[in-house]
Amino acid sequence: MPAYHRLGELPQKRHTQFRKADGSLYAEEVFGTEGFSGNYSILYYHYPPTQVKKIAKCASGPFPYEIWDEEIQRHHHLQSTQLASGGDAVLGRQVLMFNKDVQISLVRPREEMSYFYRDGDSDLLYFIHSGQGMLESTFGLLPYHEGDYIVIPRGTTFRFRLESGAESVFLVIEAHGSIESPQRYLNKYGQMLEHSPYCERDIRRPQELVAHTESGEFEVRVKVGRTLTGYWYDFHPCNVVGWDGCEYPWILNIADFEPITGRIHQPPPVHQTFQGPNFVVCSFVPRKLDYHPLSIPVPYNHSNIDSEEMIYYVNGNFGSRRGIARGSLTLHPRGIPHGPQPGTVEKSLGAERTEELAVMVDTFYPLQLTSIAQHIDDPTYPYSWLP
Ligand SMILES: [Fe+2]
Repeated sequence: MPAYHRLGELPQKRHTQFRKADGSLYAEEVFGTEGFSGNYSILYYHYPPTQVKKIAKCASGPFPYEIWDEEIQRHHHLQSTQLASGGDAVLGRQVLMFNKDVQISLVRPREEMSYFYRDGDSDLLYFIHSGQGMLESTFGLLPYHEGDYIVIPRGTTFRFRLESGAESVFLVIEAHGSIESPQRYLNKYGQMLEHSPYCERDIRRPQELVAHTESGEFEVRVKVGRTLTGYWYDFHPCNVVGWDGCEYPWILNIADFEPITGRIHQPPPVHQTFQGPNFVVCSFVPRKLDYHPLSIPVPYNHSNIDSEEMIYYVNGNFGSRRGIARGSLTLHPRGIPHGPQPGTVEKSLGAERTEELAVMVDTFYPLQLTSIAQHIDDPTYPYSWLP
C-alpha cells in the first residue's frame, strides 16, 4: 500500500466534469480493491475503458502445467538455470509450484509482448534477477532493472518492454490477493515506521504518463482463474491523461532493503519484505554477521511446522548450503527439519560478513510441485545432510 500519488491532469474535484480541448468529457474510472472499501485510484481516460469491439477466446489458457504427484514428502533443489528460455515476460512463465493462495514461476523471456495483459484476480510480484526494461501501464512508465521487486496490483493493464543486451530472468509470484508492505512496518496512519527495513523514499512510482490517443488494433489479454480472454480495442489501452490514488504498480530494489542484524542469529522475520494472502516474502541481503564472541552465524536446524519455505538463490555464496548455485531454488516443506549442511557451521565461525542474496517465500499452506519442477529437480538433495 504505497502512499498517495498523482500524475498528469486531474479535475479539482473527483466525479465532476473534466473536459478535453474539444469540449467532450474524459472517461473517469474508479480502480478499487475490496469493493469500495480498500485502496483505490481514479483514472481519466481519453477513450472509455469499457469500449471493447471484440472479445475472443485465446488460443491457449495461461501457464499450462501438470501436477507432479510425487507421493512422498521430501526436500527439493530445483536447478532453474536448466529451464528453457523463450516466450514473453508474462505467458512465458514456467510454473514450478503453487497452492490455493500463490503460484511461483520463473521466466527467461526472449520475446516482446505483442499484447497488453491484465491479471483479473491476482497481484503479481516480479523479482528481476537479471535484465532491464520498461513496465508500461495505464499508470505510466516504470523503468526496471536488476534487483527490482515490481508489485503489479491485480486489474492493472500492462506490458513489459525488454531492453536488449542483458539476459532477462524473472522470478514471478502470483497471489490471489494483495501483495503489500508488512503491516507491522506501518504506524497507525500508514506511514512506514522508523525501524522498518525500507521506507517510502526507497519506493519507485510511475513518473511519466504518456497518454496514447492513437487508434489502431490493440489486444488486452485478461486472465481470470484458468481462463484467458482477448479483449480487442481500436485504441491504445494506455490513454490515461491523469490519475491519483493509492493503488498502482511500484518498485522496491532489493539493494534498498536495509538488513537488521544482531549479536546472535536473527530469525527470518527480520528479513520480511512483503506480505501476501497466507505467505510472506523475505530478502536475504549482504550484511554484517552476528557479532557475539561465541555466535554461530548460520541458522540452526529448524522445523517450519506451519509453513513451506521456498528460497531462490540470487547471488553470492549461501553460507548454510552446499551444492547451491545462482538460480538454484530450494523447497523445504513442513513435516521434516532442515538446517545447515555438514561443515557449514564450523566454516561460518568467526565470519564477519555474508554476501548472500536470496529471495524467500514462506507459505502457510502446502505447495504443490509441477511437472516443470520435476524436470529440473536434483533427487540427491534430500541426502545432502549426510557427512
Ligand atoms: Fe530454512
